[in-house]
Amino acid sequence: MLELPHSLRLRRLRRHPTLRRMLAGVRLSADELIAPLFVHQQLSAPREIPSLPGHCQHSLDSALDTVRRWADRGLGAVLLFGIPARKDDRGTGAWDDAGAVQKLTGRIKQSLPQVVVITDVCLCEYTDHGHCGLLKTGRDGGAEVDNDATLELLARTAVSHARAGADIVAPSAMMDHQVRAIRQGLDAEGFADTAILSYAVKYASSFYRPFREAAQSAPREGDRRGYQMDYANARQPMLEALSDLQEGADMLMVKPAAAYLDVIHRIRQRVDVPLAAYHVSGEYACIKAAARAGWLDEKAAVLEVTTAIKRAGADLIITYYAEDLAQWL
Ligand code: PBG
Repeated sequence: MLELPHSLRLRRLRRHPTLRRMLAGVRLSADELIAPLFVHQQLSAPREIPSLPGHCQHSLDSALDTVRRWADRGLGAVLLFGIPARKDDRGTGAWDDAGAVQKLTGRIKQSLPQVVVITDVCLCEYTDHGHCGLLKTGRDGGAEVDNDATLELLARTAVSHARAGADIVAPSAMMDHQVRAIRQGLDAEGFADTAILSYAVKYASSFYRPFREAAQSAPREGDRRGYQMDYANARQPMLEALSDLQEGADMLMVKPAAAYLDVIHRIRQRVDVPLAAYHVSGEYACIKAAARAGWLDEKAAVLEVTTAIKRAGADLIITYYAEDLAQWL
């Protein structure tokens, strides 16, 4: 243990605002932010999402306008989620080359080539039952998600996104070996340069609720605890992270973010690939609601939480506050 000088007074270095900034150490930048966006195949005008104030289900045109505005404000990357015209039991809309995500990706790449397009690869926005994979009848007679049968559909979806021009695909279905299936699928179709940002560490969380309203993707029956992680489990995150790396992930993600800083920190210490953290819809909604009630200073609270996520070890932050942050930073 280091001997501390008797004269140590830590407040000496906190007295001057410039000195505080000089010594900050952790500094957020708009370059590290990723903004999520919802695009609906059938809308001709944007529709507000009540539990995600400030965000909409977009039409193709309003989505493109929004991405343009974000780019003008200094944001570099978007994460796209699609809502199809029709949902079915297999989630066929996910790999439709004429789907909303595919079309928007093409248009962004054409008119805003400076923007990095990341696409969410999952079936829950596209299945009528709302689960992230195909359903089968389990041993107890109930429905369960069929891991291995889902892999090929996720790979097909990723290839469709890559064909549309996506720079990075982000699998979020939490199927075992989805990264390997997607890497193989991409390579086989000539998309060896498309990167994978794996939602490696994704907990079953109550904080996804506003997202499910936005994507109309709440499971019709049951929940996602059979495939997303248990928040009380501190051992599995590292296994998830390391196995996704081995399967070919270029970047890893932890989700949600603010209640999982310990997990971000531990993964950061063990791996050197870029690490993203997703400050999810419910985390946004908490701050937004308190700010609207006059109970919190919104800007101060958002800067504090996002700086903490970076301090824990995240290189990239996916946040619904990206546009606000780009203006505040
Ligand atoms: C798709 C997916 C979800 C989120 C991101 N990708 C929903 C879920 O797993 O239920 C949630 C993101 C958020 O809450 O902002 N599987």
